[in-house]
Amino acid sequence: MKRNIILDCDPGHDDAIAILLAGSNPNLNLLGISVVAGNQTIEKTARNALNVATYLGIDVPVAIGCEFPMVRERVICAAIHGESGLDGFDFPKYDKPFDKRHGVQLIIDSVLNNEDVTIVATGPLTNVAMAIKLEPKLLNKVKEIVLMGGSVDNGNTSPAAEFNIMCDPEAAHVVFSSGIPVKMIGLNVTRKVIVTDEVISRMEKINSKPSDMFAKLMKVFNANQRNTFGVKAGPLHDPATVACLIDESLIKFQKMNVVIDISHGPSYGRTNCDIFDYLHAPHNAYVAMDIDVEKYWNIVEKGIKAY
Ligand code: RIB
Ligand code: CA
Repeated sequence: MKRNIILDCDPGHDDAIAILLAGSNPNLNLLGISVVAGNQTIEKTARNALNVATYLGIDVPVAIGCEFPMVRERVICAAIHGESGLDGFDFPKYDKPFDKRHGVQLIIDSVLNNEDVTIVATGPLTNVAMAIKLEPKLLNKVKEIVLMGGSVDNGNTSPAAEFNIMCDPEAAHVVFSSGIPVKMIGLNVTRKVIVTDEVISRMEKINSKPSDMFAKLMKVFNANQRNTFGVKAGPLHDPATVACLIDESLIKFQKMNVVIDISHGPSYGRTNCDIFDYLHAPHNAYVAMDIDVEKYWNIVEKGIKAY
């Protein structure tokens, strides 16, 4: 039985590879792609999502979602993803239209019209939170939310906060306190999957349209990581959300209490993960604690080869 998923994303170089994995696995039924502002403005992330899906021949609805966070001001991440939000690859000019619905409505319709839908989120959680608020039926209908965001330790946008959560902490609070099962894949795990030059050349050797897109995108992604963080290569965060659905042994999760700091202080946007259960508070999330790096790149390679 294929697993129904809806992907909410902000492409974004790593989001693009999450789309690639979601669109090529025989055990996943990608119902649609909703797009949110984050790595770039909504116009750019939406265009990027439609370009990647069209380039890969993934024929699913792509819907434009929220342009701004629920409460705070918008932030974008041009330093890593570039002016277009997906610098490094020139997509052909496509005329495929966006779905007429708002991205939030696409999430709602996908969940209500299908069974056991998993929401995969690789950007700020604005669309997901708004869907839950607009249609409370989702509280009992969504199978689980698998998201890239947060960290059990330090952030990448402030000492305390990871980018996706920092972009809309109030939305993250809505999601983590909703009661819907949440799998959180944070920086403590994704920082172990670095897309090195060796990984890039391994994928480049596949010598296909998808591998060409992967290699060109990752070279620019890494150049931006070097310029921003002074590292040789960057973590390929987002595909871990889809990869753990493809192979459930990939990531080790620990159930615990996670509270989002929405206090607007120096830890605004932090995912406070109670690993040692100090607070004896309800365990509202499964938090990723480890990942099998070799398996991860094998899943990415297999996904590229599947096209
Ligand atoms: O912190 C990493 C996350 O922020 C990833 O989803 C990346 O695409 C950016 O959105
Ligand atoms: Ca992302």
